[in-house]
Amino acid sequence: MKLNKFKSSEITPEKVYKNRRKFLKDMGIVTGTALLSQNIMSSALSYTPETERKITDYKYATTYNNYYEFGTGKSDPHKNSQDFITKPWEITIDGEVEKKITLSVDEIINMFPSEERVYRFRCVEGWSMVIPWLGFPLNKLLNKAQPTSKAKYVKFTSVFDPEQMKGQRFPVLDWPYKEGLRIDEAMHPLTLMVTGLYGKELPNQNGAPLRLIVPWKYGFKSAKAIVNISFVEKMPTSSWMKASPHEYGFYSNVNPNVAHPRWSQATERVIGENVFAPRIQTLMFNGYGDEVASLYDGMDLRKNY
Ligand code: MTE
Repeated sequence: MKLNKFKSSEITPEKVYKNRRKFLKDMGIVTGTALLSQNIMSSALSYTPETERKITDYKYATTYNNYYEFGTGKSDPHKNSQDFITKPWEITIDGEVEKKITLSVDEIINMFPSEERVYRFRCVEGWSMVIPWLGFPLNKLLNKAQPTSKAKYVKFTSVFDPEQMKGQRFPVLDWPYKEGLRIDEAMHPLTLMVTGLYGKELPNQNGAPLRLIVPWKYGFKSAKAIVNISFVEKMPTSSWMKASPHEYGFYSNVNPNVAHPRWSQATERVIGENVFAPRIQTLMFNGYGDEVASLYDGMDLRKNY
C-alpha cells in the first residue's frame, strides 16, 4: 500500500481537531467549524457517538480511497482528482415523484444544515475506518420531491464526465456509477447525504460535492459525485451488481456471517493501525443493528446479500 503525502496546510492536525471536538463537546456542541461556506447545525443531539473506536486519521480517510472514475488504485483518487471541477453542480430528483426538482449544491447546503455524524465505514474488501462526516439525512431532500405510491426504490447516479475522469474511458464498470436503495433504507435517518468530513469541505477524492453514506452497508453503496436521484418501481441494477452479481448483491448489508465468494467477511483490518495489529470482529449491520435490523424482519439475509 502506497500512500501519498498530503500538504500539511490542507490537514487539520489531529491534535487540534481532537481538542476542538473536546471543547465543542464540553459546550454541548459537536460539529465541524472550518466549513466556512456551509450552514452547519450545532446540536449535541445530532451527534452519533462512536465511543469504542478511534477516529481514523484525516490523511488515511483522504488518501486511501475507492473511486474508480479516477483509477483503481487506493492512492489514485487523491492523486488524480485534485483538478476535478465540482462548481457549478446540480442534482435532479425525478422518476415516481409528484414534483421533479433540480437544485444546485449551494441551494441544497443552504436548505439543509449539515450536522456531524461519526460513523463506522466498512469496505467490502475487508478494511474499515471511523469517519466524522458532515451532512444531512437524505430523507429531507427526498421528501421535497414528494415520491408517489409507486416509488419502491431509489436509484443514485454519479456524474459521467470522461473528459475529467480518465477511469471512465475504460470499461472497468458500467458508467456512470449507479447504486440503489430500497425506499425505506433511503429514508432511514442514518442515511446521510454527505457535504464534508472532519469539519471541512468534502475533498474531491471522497466524492465532492455530494456523496452518500449508508453506514450499515458496505462502502460501495455510498455513491460519490451524485447528479441524479430517481424514484423507481423496480429494484435498480447497480454498477457492481452488473459487474459481478454473485459477489455484489443489491442489499450489501455488512454481515460477518455471509462470506464474499473469495474471502471471509468475519473480520476487518482497521486502516491506520500498524500492519501487525490484529484484525477486529466485523459486527452485523456494521454495529447499527439496533437502528436498522427491523428493516429486514423476515428476510433471508443469506439469500439477500
Ligand atoms: N462512487 C463512485 N462514483 N465511484 C466509485 O468507484 N466506490 C465506492 C464508493 N462510492 C465508488 C463510489 C466504494 S467501493 C467505496 S469503498 C467507497 O466509495 C469509498 O469511499 P471513500 O473513498 O470516501 O472511503
